[in-house]
Amino acid sequence: MKVEPRPDPVPSSGQVLVRVKAAGLNFADILARQGLYPDGPRKPCIMGYEVSGVIEDVGDEVDRSLIGKPVIAMTRFNGQAELVTVSAQQVFPKPDQLTFEEAAAIPVNYLTAWALLVVMGGLRQDEAVLIHNAGGGVGLAALDIAKHVGAKTFGTASASKHEFLKQRGLDHAIDYRNQDWLPELLKLTDGRGVELIIDPLGGPSWKKSYRALRSTGRMGVFGMSVASASGILGKLRAFKAIAQMPRYNPIGLMNRNKGIFGLNLGHMWNEGEKVRAWTQEIMRGVAEGWVHPHVDRVFPFEQIADAHRHMEERKNIGKVILAP
Ligand SMILES: NC(=O)c1ccc[n+]([C@@H]2O[C@H](COP(=O)([O-])OP(=O)(O)OC[C@H]3O[C@@H](n4cnc5c(N)ncnc54)[C@H](OP(=O)(O)O)[C@@H]3O)[C@@H](O)[C@H]2O)c1
Repeated sequence: MKVEPRPDPVPSSGQVLVRVKAAGLNFADILARQGLYPDGPRKPCIMGYEVSGVIEDVGDEVDRSLIGKPVIAMTRFNGQAELVTVSAQQVFPKPDQLTFEEAAAIPVNYLTAWALLVVMGGLRQDEAVLIHNAGGGVGLAALDIAKHVGAKTFGTASASKHEFLKQRGLDHAIDYRNQDWLPELLKLTDGRGVELIIDPLGGPSWKKSYRALRSTGRMGVFGMSVASASGILGKLRAFKAIAQMPRYNPIGLMNRNKGIFGLNLGHMWNEGEKVRAWTQEIMRGVAEGWVHPHVDRVFPFEQIADAHRHMEERKNIGKVILAP
């Protein structure tokens, strides 16, 4: 990866031009670099799903009074740049109480967590949720939302992240890297398991998470982190993960009173109205104080390789941000 000059993008009709102050780094960026992300653009490319910044220009059919306004935007790639054009429909006012770095930490993490916990997972106050990788970007967003719902929270994470997670309100942190998390979860829930699990690990993890569901439990699958590795090792891990994936029979789901659903936020571009409605709910959370994005580190664009390495080596707690 490298920083290089490109011609300034020009907003077409219905678009705005954003001068980027902060761009989010996501696990999808890592997988795309490793060649393990089928939705990624053809290389060479500029990655980046989300930015915060200031509107510098607008195309035809867009209100010119937007120029100069600080915003958050969802970008379909190209966000990790000084300037990006984006549909005016994908832009939201930046809440005053958030820094640009915090604001750029909102879109992907919180929309994913909102869709998983509230929209598809239907989490309720009297239920328990297991958040895998609770210390990551999506994980901390999910914790904010689960606490707001009032559910009991369990989370797996590297042990070094447990203290922070407890401070953020996680009820039970489980070190899944040095012990088998399933017996530990069952011990903590008197053998019952939990009503909702969100699992971005994939492969054999989905089989195990399914076993940890209580009756009426739902499992949201949304990632394949177990495959993460560069070169041929990544391809081998991806094949292994696919081979180890569970197969479900609808009759089995019926008889066990369990549900499974999948989420890919990157396949929601055709559902702008839904995503805008979810964003409004999250912005309400910012205003009310129960959405508080945590920025782990800000890396200048020139240090993009270090930023990837930081996340790949599991060092981040919350969001990694890139800054021009
Ligand atoms: N489907 C969707 O719409 C969607 C949207 C956003 C994200 N996702 C998925 O959600 C997951 C989290 O994404 P994120 O951007 O918030 O990343 P993240 O969780 O902030 O960062 C990575 C964290 O994942 C954990 N991890 C587990 N296996 C890992 C591995 N093999 N290599 C490195 N880290 C690993 C580590 O936490 P520990 O130290 O606790 O192990 C690490 O700190 C990813 O799988 C991503 O692809 C899916």
